[in-house]
Amino acid sequence: MLKRWDMLYGIDLGTSNTVIYQQGKGIVLREPSVVAVRTDTGEIQAVGEEALAMLGRTPGNLDVIYPLKDGVIANFDVTTAMLQYFIRKIQGRTPWFRSSQVYISVPCGITNVQKRAVEETVVHKGAKKALAVEEPLAAAFGAGLPVDQPIGSLVLDIGGGTSQVAVLSLGGIVVSHTVRRAGMSIDKDIIDYVKRAYNLAIGERTAEEIKMRIGSAMELKEEATITIKGRDLLDGLPRAATISSSEIYSLLDDFLAAIVEAIRYTLEQCPPELAGDIVEQGMLLCGGGAMLQGLDERIRLETGVPVQVADQPLDCTALGAGMMLDYRNERNLLRSRLEYRGAASSEAMEEKIAQ
Ligand SMILES: Nc1ncnc2c1ncn2[C@@H]1O[C@H](COP(=O)(O)OP(=O)(O)OP(=O)(O)O)[C@@H](O)[C@H]1O
Ligand SMILES: [Mg+2]
Repeated sequence: MLKRWDMLYGIDLGTSNTVIYQQGKGIVLREPSVVAVRTDTGEIQAVGEEALAMLGRTPGNLDVIYPLKDGVIANFDVTTAMLQYFIRKIQGRTPWFRSSQVYISVPCGITNVQKRAVEETVVHKGAKKALAVEEPLAAAFGAGLPVDQPIGSLVLDIGGGTSQVAVLSLGGIVVSHTVRRAGMSIDKDIIDYVKRAYNLAIGERTAEEIKMRIGSAMELKEEATITIKGRDLLDGLPRAATISSSEIYSLLDDFLAAIVEAIRYTLEQCPPELAGDIVEQGMLLCGGGAMLQGLDERIRLETGVPVQVADQPLDCTALGAGMMLDYRNERNLLRSRLEYRGAASSEAMEEKIAQ
């Protein structure tokens, strides 16, 4: 039961980034889901931004790891420690977390056991109550789509570890499809390409920079270039290379084909009425990958479905998770008030809640 002083939080525990929304305050934390661990003692050296800055620059006794893989917890102890660090960072001195309720987003299609593990992690860290909610549902809620109505909505969330396509209606997921290719796999493709074409070894952060600066899903009218540094694979010495946007554009073809295929497959599985709504209303594009230049246009061209990019593609999942909790609590509050007043029938009560 919600108490007046209970705090509501929405947590998006992503493969690349963790985002926390607090009711009444908005987004209170945005940090990379990265931890630096000492290999000799297992001790945690740094978390979040600080740990990400160490990626690719560590001595032998330090390991920088992403404790989530494909959206699910791969390293339980490190994820728990990371979450604890983030919670401490936003709570300051007041131990608010003990009187808090949390909605935490999880990828579609994970098992109930995996869901429970995530909920227990949050409760273990002191929250009064935690509930796992599917990412696309939370993202759609956060972006203001009419998810609780009998109208079909399509969400395409391209994150770091997974790309999820989901059709939603009446507050639930009707069909969904998850591809284990997203932002991080594009970075890996870039690393492999630079190795092949330039005989140059580059790190993950450089590959991500190439993607963000000159990556485009549509051919650019004016070609852009970026000069990056790496290690020559033949003589082992540092060397620079200039890469052009058309190279990355061609490289993205394979990834984009997998995304378009996932959208087609999901639409094929979807009841015709809902497919009709989607063709009319369009799809919502969110997650960090939504910020890839020209992606919305390319998807619209290849699927014929209008595409709308979320206003806050990196934040809408955490925002929506928090808002869903708030919405649910409001409904519960209203329901208990109506019960108290002796509402005539449960239908009348539902009608009042729906208004
Ligand atoms: N401007 C941009 N262009 C292309 N990709 C971008 C851009 N900005 C961020 N990204 C990518 O978005 C990804 C992170 O997105 P997001 O934070 O939504 O993932 P996540 O929620 O942590 O992961 P997942 O949902 O898979 O668990 C990273 O791979 C990052 O490189
Ligand atoms: Mg995500």
